[in-house]
Parts: sequence; C-alpha cells; structure tokens
Amino acid sequence: METVQRVVLLPEEPIGQVSPYIHGQFSEHLGDCIYPGTFVGTESPLPHTRGIRQDVLEALRPLEIPVLRWPGGCFADNYHWRDGIGPREQRPTRVNTYWGMAEESNAFGTHEFLDFSRQLGAEPYFAGNVGSAAPSELRDWVEYCNFAGNSALAAERRSNGAAEPFKVQFWGIGNENWSCGGNMSPEEYAAAFARYRTYVFNYPGSEVQAIACGPNSRDFAWTRRFFDTMKNHHTSCRLKQVQGFAAHYYCGTTGSSTEYTDSQWLELLARGYAIDGIVSGHRSIMDEFDPNRRVKLIVDEWGTWHPSGPGGTSLEGFHGIYMQQNTLRDACVAALTLDVFNNHADILYMANIAQLINVLQSLLLVEDDKCIKTPTYHVFDLYKPHRHGQAIRLISQAETISHGEASEEHCRSCYTDQRTLDLQAVHGSATIKDGVLCMTVVNTHPTQPVELDVELRQANWSELEIVTLTADDIHACNTFAEPERVQLSAPRRSSDGGKHTRIQLPAASIIRVMGTLHA
Ligand code: AHR
Repeated sequence: METVQRVVLLPEEPIGQVSPYIHGQFSEHLGDCIYPGTFVGTESPLPHTRGIRQDVLEALRPLEIPVLRWPGGCFADNYHWRDGIGPREQRPTRVNTYWGMAEESNAFGTHEFLDFSRQLGAEPYFAGNVGSAAPSELRDWVEYCNFAGNSALAAERRSNGAAEPFKVQFWGIGNENWSCGGNMSPEEYAAAFARYRTYVFNYPGSEVQAIACGPNSRDFAWTRRFFDTMKNHHTSCRLKQVQGFAAHYYCGTTGSSTEYTDSQWLELLARGYAIDGIVSGHRSIMDEFDPNRRVKLIVDEWGTWHPSGPGGTSLEGFHGIYMQQNTLRDACVAALTLDVFNNHADILYMANIAQLINVLQSLLLVEDDKCIKTPTYHVFDLYKPHRHGQAIRLISQAETISHGEASEEHCRSCYTDQRTLDLQAVHGSATIKDGVLCMTVVNTHPTQPVELDVELRQANWSELEIVTLTADDIHACNTFAEPERVQLSAPRRSSDGGKHTRIQLPAASIIRVMGTLHA
C-alpha cells in the first residue's frame, strides 16, 4: 500500500444536518447490563444516586448521551411494565425467559429508568411489548407516563412519586417482531403495528413518535413488504401513523474478541463498514413509498458481536451473558460506523449502539466496585463535535484494501447476500458547525501508517487541533487491571492548514482534526 493517501473535502456539497440522536445508546435487561451494571439498589454499599451507580453516572455524563433505549431488545416483548412500578418490595420477581432464565426482580422499572436517563440528560426511548401483551398494556403505559390530567393512571404515577408527566416521546412498537418479538411475517407485523399504534395517543403536551420494527441487516424484503402493506393494504392507519422505522445490524466474528490476525481485523472492519449499503438500501426502498421522507430511518441496534462460550459466557471469562471485551478493533468499527452515519445525515435520524454497559459492544465495563471506559466509549467522546453539524461530502481516494469473500458464517449470521467485503485504507466524514470544520478519519490498515493528504475544495482551514485514538498493539483493550491503555491523546495544535494539509495517521488509528474554516 502507498504511504500517501488522499481525501477531498467539499464544503460546498452539504449533505444534511447531523442528528444528535445518531449517538444514541441502548440498555437491556440482559446479562449484567442493568443489574449490577447500572442499578445496585438503594441499600448498596457502593456509591449511588437513588440506586444508580455513581461511577457509571460520572463516567457517562461527559458523553451527553442524546437518547437511551430500554428495556430491550428481546426482553421488551416479554416485559410487563406494571411489574416495575410501585414499592420495590411489592414488585413481582419474574423469569427473564429470553436471557438465561435469570430472575428479574423488577427493581429497575419505569421510574428508575427515567431517573437514569434524566440524570444523564438523555431522551428516553421505550420499546413496547407487542409480542406477548395486549394493546391495552402499551396504551396504558403511554398514558401512565404522559398524561398530565387526573386519570387513574396519572394518579397512580403521582402516588409513585412523579407529579409531572414524563413526556416520553419515543415509543417502539415491538422489537424484532420477525423473530423474538413474535415470529411474524412483515404483513402480520404491519397488522399488529396498525392495531397497537391505534391506541398510542398523543396526550396534551406529549407528542409520540411511534417507531416500527424494521429489518435485520440486508433483509430488504421486510422493508418492502411492511411499507407496501402499510401504504396499500390498510384503509385507515396507513403510513401516517409510522414516525420511525428501525433496522438492526450487527457485525460478528467467528473468533475471539481479543485475539485475531491482521486479516480478521480487516474482515471485521469491512463488515462494520457494510452498514453503509444497509442504510442507503433500506432508505431507497422506503423512498418508493414515502418519497417525502416523513418516516424517519433509525438503526436502533448496531455493533460488534463476538462469540460466546457454553452457557452464554464470553470466551474471555466474563460472567455476564454477551459480556465481551472491546479492543481497538471494535473502536475502529464504531468510528467507521459513525462516519457512515454522518455521510448519511440526510437520511438517518437515530442510531443506538448495543449496548451501554457490560453487553456486546459496550461503552463501559463494570464489575464489583470497578467501572472502566472501553475504546468504543472514547470514539463517542471523540465524535461529539459532529452533533448538529452540517455534514459535507468527504471523498476518500484512498486505496481499497479488499478482503475479498465474506465467510459463510458472516453470510448466515447477517441474513445477507453480500459476498464481497471491500474497505478503503482511509474512511471518514466531515461536518461544519459555527465556522469550525471537524473531520474524523480512520486508518483501517492494521500495520501501515498513512500520510494523509487532505484537500479542501474552495475553502481552507487554520488553527488545527488534532486528537488521536490508537495504541501500540491492534489487540489493545482496557481492563480492570489496566483501565487506561487505550485512550484519547492530548489535543495537538498545528500551524498547518490552507487548502492542502498533510496529517500523519498511525496504523489502526482514529483521528479527529478540527480547524477554523475560511472561504
Ligand atoms: O442486543 C442483544 C439482542 O440482539 C437484542 O435483545 C435483540 O433485539 C437482538 O437480537
């Protein structure tokens, strides 16, 4: 591969404003995410605020999480919200049938989740139960949360400590209803959506955005058949009752989360980058039915998914289901994905990485009295300045590092027909906000540094500030023993700038460059 690679930035080709919600998160009652990752209870000897871990709150606050989805995932379609309100000692213990038959105490319910999201400043996003509950359950949950008047449900909310309505805006109508949410066909789900949505009301002062269950990965038939049914085969509901449509995309590995070869590194990054075609593919089908793009495209679960050992424990010895280690490789997947999202600022409204704590590609790993930030956490920190920015076209002219054929496992696990996985040596995105140009790029090559030539068309920039996320080993991760092995570099000032700038990208690195933009 050549050492010098090139990207071109086109400030005069705006794409759209970056929705802050694309940096959203997801917390599920799965493994150790909620207990003890988030909630330790009010009797815990660990520092907490109303039962929520203080170390978690302090670690997450700087990220200013824009939106947080809960309670699942697959858990959501087996969750009955009334179990999680009222005095904790009176709440029933249920079986978390989807996730390891764990005993679910319901200690963390609606009020606790809303307390958690409000303490973080995050907009709450509830996933409602369509698979195993009647429409009245979802109807009542919305009224309980959002009605300001004097109904019995609003009075019950008040007696449980919340005088004011919670004004929850985002409501998912089921989750993965093609699988754990009821094994429905798109037509069956469209009928269920129409029925459940009918009873989800906008109470005065609380307008709801109802989010329909979208496809897994490249299941374009789900998108077409759902939209076709909603548009052409329902007489009254039709598309006007759908505000959002949420796809899922996980990129998996067949090996370990911490041990991999250079070629396995490239393969996972390429699988991560494949989200580009998934986002644009689903939107182009939606456009056939919804040309004015009134229904917002969302990806409310995404991230890396590494294999689990027997009994749902990870290969690295963590005990929680799907608790996986998170290396520089996962960070590069996160960065590539957030760059893709910026480059689709015109069509993507929200995205939620799975999951916030201790599950899959988590931002925090928490055990006993310890809480550490993963490399993926640092990516979200690094990319924060993009929020609300105007995304502009970034053309990567970097060489393609083609990894060729996708493995059979990939094709099976992603329901995909995608047989080739191509990746360039450098991918990135750029936004402009308040006269500052912010560019993020990933050097996807595991061993070769790049000298990046950045050309700015019809503009230039100055007073550059450069921050880097990398490590001396592509397998580097943060552990409870060594929590700061992978972290952001201190900002470096540079007097370079103008129309052509040369930036050094170490192998396997993520770089953010910000500078004042001049016409
Ligand atoms: O995030 C873990 C699980 O992955 C979720 O519960 C489900 O929606 C998806 O299959």
